[in-house]
Amino acid sequence: MEAEPVQFLWRRYEERLEPSRATVARFVGAQPQDLVFVTNATAGVNAVVRSLKLRRGDELLTTNHDYNACHNVLVETALRVGARLVVATIPFPLGSADEAVAAVLNAVTPRTRLALIDHVTSPTALVLPAARLVRELAARGVDTLIDGAHAPGMVPLELEKLGAAYYTANLHKWVCAPKGAAFLWARRDKQSAVHPAIISHGNNTSRPGYSAFQDRFDWAGTFDPSAWFCAGAAIDWMGKRLPGGWADVYRRNRELATQARRLLCDRLGVVAPCPEEMLGAMATLPLPEPFQELPKTGKIDAEQSRLYDEFGIEAPFMRFGQPARRYFRVSAQLYNSPAEYAYLAAVIPRVITNGSSSKSS
Ligand SMILES: Cc1ncc(COP(=O)(O)O)c(C=O)c1O
Repeated sequence: MEAEPVQFLWRRYEERLEPSRATVARFVGAQPQDLVFVTNATAGVNAVVRSLKLRRGDELLTTNHDYNACHNVLVETALRVGARLVVATIPFPLGSADEAVAAVLNAVTPRTRLALIDHVTSPTALVLPAARLVRELAARGVDTLIDGAHAPGMVPLELEKLGAAYYTANLHKWVCAPKGAAFLWARRDKQSAVHPAIISHGNNTSRPGYSAFQDRFDWAGTFDPSAWFCAGAAIDWMGKRLPGGWADVYRRNRELATQARRLLCDRLGVVAPCPEEMLGAMATLPLPEPFQELPKTGKIDAEQSRLYDEFGIEAPFMRFGQPARRYFRVSAQLYNSPAEYAYLAAVIPRVITNGSSSKSS
């Protein structure tokens, strides 16, 4: 890029972008013309929500498991236009996916214009029944924006079949593409009204063979598009790690996360907060009782910091629910092994009581 920026960023741009877009589209069950790259899921949510033509009194629906950054997009948009933000409360712990569906559908009113549904919830690591929710919401006249930030590479996707109005997701999480690789898919009838968060050349510069949707999104001002160019290669590379390809990756990581949760529940004496059928490659568990009383200490809880600083494990700790309970989340990617979760189970109690500075293996 630096050796010949005009070649890389302009003359030969599409030549590198298109093969990557085609691979990503195939991977998520979409047509390339319906899919554009964005730098992250936050940008995808911003583009969709801030493009909506809302009227005062319209309602935007989300859940209490949504991702704070995307929640803020809804808050800001609702404030700007005088819309109402409705937050459906999905219980946690929960006994079945039905409880999630019921919570969302009970919050729909005739004023609901858009539902933001997380495919895999960030704080609670639930794989929500996206297809069922899209279908039920559509039957009530509500468009769905799926925030699939964690989904590609964790669960198989068939976006065209899913038929949501919009789907945005990261490729820089479970596909292991470089940071800045994400996409937005929009159903064809929705594309003309969706504008990127950054307006650039594409609004009045069309290219033969490209949709106006693609023209608008394919250039977001000068930046390093390497992550977009590499996304397809990352998909191909990850798909060759196991003999059964991506199907094996989904299965292997899901089994490891499930096994890890069983082990952690058993060793820490905590109860699993959702059925195993709702797990993907992550699991959220309650922290043991002695953690529950400890105060919040800053941007990152002291115990989470100690888990990394003293034991070399990165796992998010969070507070969730009313009244808030403390949880932690584990992930299972190809480079993780069962022994790591056994080690985590052994050291978690020590991040409260351990004052030693000696770093374990
Ligand atoms: C559900 C969900 N949505 C959105 C995001 C935001 O992703 P990004 O920071 O890449 O935009 C995340 C990140 O973890 C997430 O889990």
